[in-house]
Amino acid sequence: MAGDRTESVPPDQSADLARRIARHRPGHALDRAFYTDAGIFERDLDRMLLKHWFLAAHASSVPRTGDFRVVDLGAESIIIVRSAPAEIRALLNVCRHRGSRVCTTASGRATAGRLTCPYHAWTYGLDGRLLVAREMPEPFDRSDFGLRSLPVRVVEGLIFTTFAREPLDFASAEAALTGSAGVHGWAKAKVAHSETYSINANWKLAIENYMECYHCQPAHPEFSKRHVYARPAAQSEAIEREGRRRADALGIVIADVDEYGESSRPGGESVSVFRSALNEGVDSATRDGRRIARLMGAFGGHDGNSTYFDIGPISDFLAYADHGVIYRFIPRSVLHTEMEVIWLVHEDAVEGTDYDVAQLTWLWKTTSIEDKRIVEHNQAGINSRFFEPGPYSSQEPYARRFVDWYLRELAGN
Ligand code: FES
Ligand SMILES: [Fe+2]
Repeated sequence: MAGDRTESVPPDQSADLARRIARHRPGHALDRAFYTDAGIFERDLDRMLLKHWFLAAHASSVPRTGDFRVVDLGAESIIIVRSAPAEIRALLNVCRHRGSRVCTTASGRATAGRLTCPYHAWTYGLDGRLLVAREMPEPFDRSDFGLRSLPVRVVEGLIFTTFAREPLDFASAEAALTGSAGVHGWAKAKVAHSETYSINANWKLAIENYMECYHCQPAHPEFSKRHVYARPAAQSEAIEREGRRRADALGIVIADVDEYGESSRPGGESVSVFRSALNEGVDSATRDGRRIARLMGAFGGHDGNSTYFDIGPISDFLAYADHGVIYRFIPRSVLHTEMEVIWLVHEDAVEGTDYDVAQLTWLWKTTSIEDKRIVEHNQAGINSRFFEPGPYSSQEPYARRFVDWYLRELAGN
């Protein structure tokens, strides 16, 4: 499995985390060890990644009772299963007998409503209860050996879960999702396509890259021709104003939310929502800028904007009037991150009639391949013992904010 690969950079044995955090220069990239040290990656998991909510899947990917998907994070694995028509559960994919993975395929359907461990055939119900365990000496109480269940929230068709025993309050995130994904009609969407990109880099480099558009003009000519977000703020103000005017004219109301990272409410999950205009004459993220699929949600017309929203550190979303794009970042090990990109369309849209997958996915496939390349080059440079963290530009405020938030979480504050 990719997450088990041997790392090429040895762990920094002398890492003193508190000293490293204290030594961080505000406004600068992180020190090399934060991107290369396997011990720090374990801290990342304990203090940040396993603490926050993250997107597991869109509900349309488990449409029938018994359908499941396996979702990984670090060395952890979860079964997302539709346990009843209106109920989705998240079960730890670790058998309570001797620990085997119970589900060994990325997705599937539980036979006869049961999940059977492939090792010694302990058999669980869709709610995780242990139903069958052969030859177990008494006393043995099956009710003590159910699969561990994780909290689940399904909001606007998006399935979130967390490993936290005391989960962060999800109320603000839920309200913000209703005001963004809800307006875009994501509860009535379906997955049209997904791709997973394997990135040989630390997860934070992938996130920092997602959080800034300083790289967009040099690295993403296709994105930059369509999205005003690629420009410095001073060059985009007038177009953004015009985008807001068009949204008002169409009655599209999506409020900005800024409770992200260090700005999040104490004890609450991080959430941000903001809209940004598309370039003149561009309605959607397509080659010709024209609509690619039927309009979704509250959109009676194209308002020439895109809606970005982020929940927690690794779940990011981008909505157009006629389709949606989900970014799931999946840290697997210190130098390996998977990036799953999921394209959504209206649930009634018919492939080949209402949309064409190649056209629908063109921009974000192109952009994701470019991102994989630049993030891997970034990691390769940072692996050098001569790397020194440089300063962020004025076009990278969200990358800087992410790094500040990360350091605070890592320090355990
Ligand atoms: S490890 Fe699952 S049945 Fe033995
Ligand atoms: Fe990018």
